[in-house]
Amino acid sequence: MEKFELMAATAFGIESVTNYELKKLGYETKAEDGRVNFEGTFSDIARTNLWLRTSNRILIKAGEFDATDFDTLFERTFSIEWDELLTEDATFPVELSSVKSKLSSAPACQSIIKKAIVERMKKRYHINHFPEDGPQYKIIVHIVKDRVTLGIDTTGESLNRRGYRVNISEAPLKETLAASIVLLSKWKNRFLLWDGFCGSGTIPIEAAMIAKNIAPGSLRRFVFEEWKNFPRNVIESEREKSMDLISDDPVVIIGTDEDEQMIEFSKRNAKRIGVDKIIDFRVSKFEKFVPEAPGFFISNLPYGMRTDENDLDGIYREIRRKFSSNDWRLFLLTADENFEKKFLRADGNRKLFNGRIEVRLYRYEGRKYS
Ligand SMILES: C[S@@+](CC[C@H](N)C(=O)[O-])C[C@H]1O[C@@H](n2cnc3c(N)ncnc32)[C@H](O)[C@@H]1O
Repeated sequence: MEKFELMAATAFGIESVTNYELKKLGYETKAEDGRVNFEGTFSDIARTNLWLRTSNRILIKAGEFDATDFDTLFERTFSIEWDELLTEDATFPVELSSVKSKLSSAPACQSIIKKAIVERMKKRYHINHFPEDGPQYKIIVHIVKDRVTLGIDTTGESLNRRGYRVNISEAPLKETLAASIVLLSKWKNRFLLWDGFCGSGTIPIEAAMIAKNIAPGSLRRFVFEEWKNFPRNVIESEREKSMDLISDDPVVIIGTDEDEQMIEFSKRNAKRIGVDKIIDFRVSKFEKFVPEAPGFFISNLPYGMRTDENDLDGIYREIRRKFSSNDWRLFLLTADENFEKKFLRADGNRKLFNGRIEVRLYRYEGRKYS
């Protein structure tokens, strides 16, 4: 079966988590900034789209080269065998970003790349005009420090769109980021997991999907499913296999939020992906809730327009108080730049991105707080 060079695109800061996921699925990998490289067949494209919790998309690497002028960009793009994958009716928009490179004009580079692909396709299909009225093969190009990487997107809508989150809070966490946080926390099913500011439920739901081994892509479709040259039934067979892998291990996950509507949303979202039975969602102010046992507290703390400094100080004080005598492990995600100063020095922190917003995950090992 044909093998491709593949790239799992990730948000910055998440590469090592996606790398871990791919290794667990049995692939040999190489992580770089913003992506993890691996090799695979059509089945692997289906499998990784279906199973990766922390990647944004899977791309087929079409080519990679250095270019500092338009002629080289054209020639090298033209030399790629686009016609091996793109069908005659393919729609192939070019999306491009350029960072710290001589070729800095995205529109100019985009149109040169498009022209080079069209010329290549003309040679193969012997037509002068491509209708582009068939399935989409989006070409995603990154130019970083004069190194050009061209990929063909197999995913379509980003993988964070699992399909279960129809109802969302005002500041929802990306599903891929929520899954990354849970994986980074190394939480295991035998421990209780509580999110005391759960909003629309993203962290508890992603944790429950991890605990039950539910494939994150099981509710959605991928753009490769429309490709005529992608073997049929590959994805169906992967979906079927994934159903047999769902685990029944007992698990205790709690999600609380003071906002009744949020808890209603969380319940509905959880139901769509089949984890409503294993998450205890309750309306409660953080201050009032008393969990039955210690465990992992993993939460995206309130921060932003609707939370004023006084509220925040109160919340931080409450968190310190509640966990002062317990053996909890805390993983707190916030965009508050002065968080450690106001709360407590962390045992570790990690810079992450929720979309374009820079956030940090602060880790506090189980210990006594004074
Ligand atoms: C940043 S949002 C969480 C978003 C969530 N991670 C998601 O993906 O939807 C913070 C949440 O904290 C809740 N909240 C604020 N203060 C609270 C308090 N004192 N007790 C409980 N919930 C509170 C808000 O209702 C809001 O839903």
